[in-house]
Amino acid sequence: MSDLYEVIYLSTRREGLTDQVIVDEIVLPSGIKNRHLDITGCLWFSNERFLQILEGPREAVEQVYEAIRSDDRHYAIATVSTSPVTHRSFARWGMRALRGDEQNQIDQLIEYHAPNYHRQPAKPTAQPDQPLIEQVRSFLVTLSQADPSPSL
Ligand SMILES: Cc1cc2nc3c(=O)[nH]c(=O)nc-3n(C[C@H](O)[C@H](O)[C@H](O)COP(=O)(O)O)c2cc1C
Repeated sequence: MSDLYEVIYLSTRREGLTDQVIVDEIVLPSGIKNRHLDITGCLWFSNERFLQILEGPREAVEQVYEAIRSDDRHYAIATVSTSPVTHRSFARWGMRALRGDEQNQIDQLIEYHAPNYHRQPAKPTAQPDQPLIEQVRSFLVTLSQADPSPSL
């Protein structure tokens, strides 16, 4: 597919948003809606954060990302990467939920892209770090292949 596109972003969970609500009211309806739009992806979440990967036709991905950005169930949305991709990493899932703790790679990504989350200020000139993004993507792909998901 020539216009396959991927968006990766980080955000912070609104306080009081439970795992159950995330699964029932975000992941499940998103999976259905995404499938209709030919979008696949994953939603990783820890106690504090979301990290989502959306992949599919560019127009559809951008439209859904726009809706997600104005959703008040999360805030401090930081776009990590937007780019054309040659293949899908999460082809089997409209939206694969992945429950995790903060992980090394994801922590590093947060330092680069959402410095306010961390005590130490990130370098103001920090550029998107392609190898780090690839590490995070493949970490999430591996996690998604564990069936069932570790904590869901
Ligand atoms: C962290 C997070 C991730 C979301 N992911 C998706 C998604 O992948 N697809 C989707 O359609 N909506 C997603 N949503 C929900 C959208 O923000 C929005 O509520 C929904 O698209 C509205 O759909 P509707 O207009 O069909 O009711 C997400 C919301 C949050 C807070």
